[in-house]
Amino acid sequence: MKKIFPSVVENTLIADNIFKLVLEDSFPHDEFKPGKFLHVKCSKGLDPLLRRPMSICDISDDERYLTVLYRKEGRGTTLLSEYQAGEKIDILAPLGNNFELPAEYENGENSTGDLQKQCLTKKVLLIGGGIGVPPLYYLGRKLKAAGHSIISILGFNAAKDVFYENEFKSLGEVFITTVDGSYGMKGFVTDALAKIESLNDAEIVDCESSSDRTAHNRTSSRLRRTNDRSVPLVHEDHEDHEDAEIVDWEPSYDVMYSCGPKAMLKALQSRISSDKLAYMSLEERMGCGVGACLACVCNYNEGFERDKNYSRVCTEGPVYKLHEISL
Ligand SMILES: Cc1cc2nc3c(=O)[nH]c(=O)nc-3n(C[C@H](O)[C@H](O)[C@H](O)COP(=O)(O)OP(=O)(O)OC[C@H]3O[C@@H](n4cnc5c(N)ncnc54)[C@H](O)[C@@H]3O)c2cc1C
Ligand code: FES
Repeated sequence: MKKIFPSVVENTLIADNIFKLVLEDSFPHDEFKPGKFLHVKCSKGLDPLLRRPMSICDISDDERYLTVLYRKEGRGTTLLSEYQAGEKIDILAPLGNNFELPAEYENGENSTGDLQKQCLTKKVLLIGGGIGVPPLYYLGRKLKAAGHSIISILGFNAAKDVFYENEFKSLGEVFITTVDGSYGMKGFVTDALAKIESLNDAEIVDCESSSDRTAHNRTSSRLRRTNDRSVPLVHEDHEDHEDAEIVDWEPSYDVMYSCGPKAMLKALQSRISSDKLAYMSLEERMGCGVGACLACVCNYNEGFERDKNYSRVCTEGPVYKLHEISL
């Protein structure tokens, strides 16, 4: 981790309140790995004092350009949106751990040693919600370059919030959901998985011949039902839907990576079996970003504790196994 002062190349609006920030400096791929984050000093003065964590959305092949996508939320990100091309930004990076790529297991490099058997797996499911989508793009680019096949499910509130659809399409099949149904499939990412599962061949043909924008929601024979248990359907932000039940599903994939709001990750925890190879990246509120203040602490679930029963997301995370942390 070091302090860097990259130049702003671009800082533009790409969707409702979503900005694309491109920085120029030296960003070696072997240090700036997918899943790691930057701690950005958004103000040019002392207010706000605390840096804001931002994921790496992409790094160019020549390692000169790093892209961040951010949502203008509060004081920090509003100040960030005011940076102009040519200005320099004060950043601590790279911070946190990173997503483990299947290829790393093949090389025997994974630290835990418990995933070696899955090393030959190649079908990857990326599930992103809202501003949790960005880190999955850089990850997806690395996975694709390593020869893995990728399906992405990206969830947003409404059509105006959708971003990076084409970029994800360049990686593989993409399914978009919106809560209000104004674009893609209506509902949540979990609903998309269930819907994809339930579509039959006739519907696929209908979708493919349609010029409607939902056509890209067509299903894939690679997604299949594996059992018929019923489980509660937990919606991301509607606790009153928790009683609803749908038939359990389990698409055919070898590894799943996710990032998004806590409620979405919680829904995935309740839907995906703990013996599946699955990861999540947590976007907790942070203070120091380097393990000193404990602002970002969360608890391990039983059976996942390490030397202590809590974890600092900024240092031990932000990437965890899906069932490792209590949300
Ligand atoms: C590892 C990590 C990676 C992240 N990557 C990105 C990214 O790539 N793009 C992006 O836009 N954001 C990302 N975030 C979230 C981002 O850091 C916050 O949105 C940002 O700090 C808000 O700062 P602000 O001063 O604009 O808003 P504040 O004034 O601090 O807050 C505005 C609103 O956002 C809420 N909020 C602030 N931080 C978070 C958070 N971490 N999670 C949920 N709600 C929050 C507050 O409760 C408040 O309602 C990431 C967070 C983490 C921990
Ligand atoms: S943000 Fe300070 S310990 Fe994690």
